[in-house]
Amino acid sequence: MAEEELPGIIFSAGLSRRLEEAADVIKEHKGIVRILSHYDPDGITAAAIVCKMLKRRGNHFQTTLSKKLDDRRMKEIRESTPEEQLIILTDMGSSRVSQLDEFPQMVIVVDHHQPEAEGDNIIHLNPHLFGIDGAREASASSFAFSLAVTLDEKNWDLASLAITGAIGDRQNLGGFKGYNEELASVTAQRELLKTEVVPDLKSSTVYDSLIEHPEPYFVGVTGRKRQASRFVKWLGLEKESEYKELDDDKKRFLTSICTLRLLRQGATAEAVENFVTTKYWLYDWDMYADEFSALLNACSRQGDQSTGLAMALGDKSALETAIQHRVKHQECIIDNLRKLEGEPPKTLDNVQYFHTSEPPYAGVLAGLGTLYFFDDTKATFGISKKNGNDHISARAPRQLVEAGVNLGLACKEAGDNVGGVGGGHNVAAGATVPSKKEKKFLNELDRIIGEQLTN
Ligand code: C5P
Ligand code: C5P
Repeated sequence: MAEEELPGIIFSAGLSRRLEEAADVIKEHKGIVRILSHYDPDGITAAAIVCKMLKRRGNHFQTTLSKKLDDRRMKEIRESTPEEQLIILTDMGSSRVSQLDEFPQMVIVVDHHQPEAEGDNIIHLNPHLFGIDGAREASASSFAFSLAVTLDEKNWDLASLAITGAIGDRQNLGGFKGYNEELASVTAQRELLKTEVVPDLKSSTVYDSLIEHPEPYFVGVTGRKRQASRFVKWLGLEKESEYKELDDDKKRFLTSICTLRLLRQGATAEAVENFVTTKYWLYDWDMYADEFSALLNACSRQGDQSTGLAMALGDKSALETAIQHRVKHQECIIDNLRKLEGEPPKTLDNVQYFHTSEPPYAGVLAGLGTLYFFDDTKATFGISKKNGNDHISARAPRQLVEAGVNLGLACKEAGDNVGGVGGGHNVAAGATVPSKKEKKFLNELDRIIGEQLTN
């Protein structure tokens, strides 16, 4: 297709104006740009999109990935950044608008968390401000991509990073919606990726998928050699059988049995539906987007986000290190989920909670447990302890969110009530509270979520 015939994304008038405003600031900026981003796959890919779009323009930049944007970090950014530098925050910043408004530097925020305010002195690109659901329809990376293509149509090749980041934030569960859906569809029309509807098996053989990968999680089978081998035999397959080599009857049988098994173990509707899923093959990266995202996630959770960023920026040598991280990452998740099978979360009326000694994994475990085998009528809280504080990751099944639960608001209110901090999305959120207030915090959450469900 000739360049001028290629399809694009149609932005609303308000969003278009804001994107142009941000693009103009970048075009006029001659000095260094300081990029600060969240350390997870969505944050890494958002930062990579911004780095690449700036590099192509010849701008110099410095990038930092971090876990959170607390008061200490805000002070450090404000005081250590020369006033003439431009600051771009990605996948963070929307909850700090009033402070950023006071910064002497020019600030652009590209974030998808529920915003504190729109801001007067910053350029704030957040889907929630433009009628797009930031928990579901656009992530930081997919929104950062809109800025990259506004700046230059040549940045369309960065769409693969945008899709990978949105998958990292699980916005593809139940299929992409809204802005993300349009982005994926146009990216496919531009032949930058190919979509396939297939069972969500992560290795080429069914057996390896069951042994090595925590998702989809099969209670009593995942991570267990003997049980996985028995299951595979029962399906009429060999350990070496590759999915793509099976005939149609065997493929259908495998899909129905796995789906039934997930239903029987109490997986949520979204997890069951997601067993047959749309996968995005990225030509540039020679892998599926979910695989790419899993590698980035492994780097983040293993504390090596710089390898993730190097990989997202196209450094092929970083791939090997990322693969090593993935092995440890998956083992850690499977071990902990197996423990949670034996020792399920404790329950209150509307919430369930568990403790973990693996702080970076609290959210991953809460998310997978919620999807695959926890009680799906309660919101889940994974708690880890560090330096006298509880770090909490919250996840809810979509059906609870549809019934009125908003974990971001619940974590904020319960956090405020016990002298901690909290926030996030309706479906996934978190908080940090003093450990001695844990019981009170959980009771507050139980009350608030109960009220959200009744109202
Ligand atoms: O900070 P951020 O918005 O990037 O983090 C969202 C987190 O919530 C991610 O770790 C993502 O995997 C998780 N999530 C989830 N289930 C959902 C939506 C998001 O576990 N349905
Ligand atoms: O750390 P975790 O992945 O569980 O965080 C889930 C979501 O909650 C993320 O979007 C994160 O940015 C948000 N969060 C927050 N405030 C906190 C802790 C987490 O907004 N204190």
